[in-house]
Amino acid sequence: MARLQADHVTLGYDRRTVATNLSLAIPDGEFTVIVGPNGCGKSTLLRSFARLLKPEAGRIVLDGKAISSVPAKEAARRVGLLPQSSTAPDGITVSDLVGRGRYPHQTLFRQGSAGDRAAVDRAMERTGVSEFAGVRVDELSGGQRQRVWVAMALAQETPILLLDEPTTFLDIAHQIELLDLFARLHEEGSTVVAVLHDLNHAARYATHLVAMKDGVVAASGSPRDIVTPRLVEEVFGLPAVVIDDPETGTPLVIPRATR
Ligand SMILES: Nc1ncnc2c1ncn2[C@@H]1O[C@H](COP(=O)(O)OP(=O)(O)OP(=O)(O)O)[C@@H](O)[C@H]1O
Ligand SMILES: [Mg+2]
Repeated sequence: MARLQADHVTLGYDRRTVATNLSLAIPDGEFTVIVGPNGCGKSTLLRSFARLLKPEAGRIVLDGKAISSVPAKEAARRVGLLPQSSTAPDGITVSDLVGRGRYPHQTLFRQGSAGDRAAVDRAMERTGVSEFAGVRVDELSGGQRQRVWVAMALAQETPILLLDEPTTFLDIAHQIELLDLFARLHEEGSTVVAVLHDLNHAARYATHLVAMKDGVVAASGSPRDIVTPRLVEEVFGLPAVVIDDPETGTPLVIPRATR
């Protein structure tokens, strides 16, 4: 049984239901990528997996228990989330913000240990933001800031890492650099889940791909098996051809010329 799964969940906000009776297991040790149109429920699902949104029905199961019964801090030591957008506290420096990722590991009597500092340094190094350690987050560019948020999620050092559009705002080289970093985390044993909009990045990096539409899982499996013109048409309403990526052999989606 997977460590993290949605078991017949209904997800939504006040009057808006986003998904009904949705079940999805996050396979342990895989690099899962979730794709789907704007508004289909990807962020909502990730927030429920991170215990930030309580299902209206059904349950999110973490290590065999309803996540709602796991104390928040305990859950945050096992599941980390990089949200789609966040606002940094005014004037906070990069190293202090990344340090907040250590909060779930700290107690009233044990804060800022050598272990915490080492985790923060390692996270900043892996995301290439060490040079900004003492700089205020609000003085960084959008892309630099995005990498700082990723560093904060990494500093949390959770076995399961959820990333909601981690590569938005990044130039192409930094997108690939971060995706390579996530692939390395996966190789080192982490369970990684990322929401991506670039289907070609998704097909290249995912070991397990989930395509969502209107709160429903339309397809899941290996990218080579599920990325077809039919799926792209069904999920995105986009006529496309799918060829082999000349570099990796994974599916490469090319929208049909419409004009
Ligand atoms: N806080 C909220 N309150 C009310 N409705 C919300 C809230 N957040 C999202 N929604 C609605 O829930 C639906 C799913 O939103 P969600 O953010 O999960 O989509 P998404 O798949 O992540 O989209 P995107 O690709 O644009 O990030 C949308 O219709 C959205 O308007
Ligand atoms: Mg989203």
